[in-house]
Amino acid sequence: MAQGLKVAVVGATGMVGAEMLRVLEQRAFPVAELVPVASARSAGKTVTFNGAEHRVVEIAPEVFEGVDLALFSAGGDTSRKWSPIAASKGALVVDNSSAFRGDPDVPLIVPEVNPEAAARRPKGIIANPNCSTIQMVVALKPLHDEARLKRVVVATYQAISGSGATAVAAFEAQEAAIAQGGEVDKNKLSGQLSRNLLMHWKPDPETGYQEEELKMVSETRKIFGDPAIAVSPTAVRVPVVTAHSEAITVETHEPLTAERARELLSKAEGVQVVDDLSQGIYPQPIDAAGQDPVYVGRIREDVGNPGGIQMWVVSDNLRKGAALNAVQIAEKVLLK
Ligand code: A2P
Repeated sequence: MAQGLKVAVVGATGMVGAEMLRVLEQRAFPVAELVPVASARSAGKTVTFNGAEHRVVEIAPEVFEGVDLALFSAGGDTSRKWSPIAASKGALVVDNSSAFRGDPDVPLIVPEVNPEAAARRPKGIIANPNCSTIQMVVALKPLHDEARLKRVVVATYQAISGSGATAVAAFEAQEAAIAQGGEVDKNKLSGQLSRNLLMHWKPDPETGYQEEELKMVSETRKIFGDPAIAVSPTAVRVPVVTAHSEAITVETHEPLTAERARELLSKAEGVQVVDDLSQGIYPQPIDAAGQDPVYVGRIREDVGNPGGIQMWVVSDNLRKGAALNAVQIAEKVLLK
């Protein structure tokens, strides 16, 4: 196992970047030297890691000198420009943006699902999937192994922290304005999220879908290596700060019973079954926030499609949906 690695976190001042630092610390990832990287706006600020203050540096080619692992979460443009530079200097890049997810030469990895695909990474870059995709495929994996996925219909209930620190601040300002009976500023979130639901991802005029939904289609197929899996998504932003929820309807090639699905999910890596509706027990975002597992409940046979399964899947979008998955990828590849 590696003794200690030089680790750059690009976007270290952002929501996912901060979570990356927490996850590295909590999992005792062997960091010999930390390089927190952000834009010129944050250069000179500090972040705390393992009890010490670390100065944030502005992104530049030289910050990647001697870096073993570069975790990127600073948006697609930053990743497109800087990930190849970091990789060319010998770093393993794990990129949380959507920049490389569709690239056939960049593996798209969820360690519980397709760890073997990380071995072939000709660009030195591994992509972290979209938050909604990650928690869905972790829950689908045991059902796919048993009965092979045919079709997945999913509605997401996505927390605002997925949009970053500025969006969370805008949402909290809306909540405060409502509490004080003031005017709600709808500009910063493309609408009012407080006491409301939004669909504010980039629309695809050709299909009528939002980009966020189309990511779930292509990424699920790439991760399972099966372009025939049909995915029908609807993405919704809900007034929750952290943890995404998903209502998932599954149809498999072989029929499944709820009992068998529950048994498979109970043994699945990364999954925790929380399922006793008669006692009011089911996964809730408020309980999932700050936790690692993908929580699965409401496991039931699909009343509208015999042999199919319905379930309710909740996970922390900043942790398993982003930072934790990225660090788990690095652990699989670098800490053998
Ligand atoms: P900065 O603090 O300097 O703006 P969030 O998604 O929570 O908004 O965080 C975005 C993260 O990405 C922040 O750390 C931000 O740094 C960083 N970032 C944004 N644009 C750039 C850029 N052009 N180069 C480097 N880091 C960037």
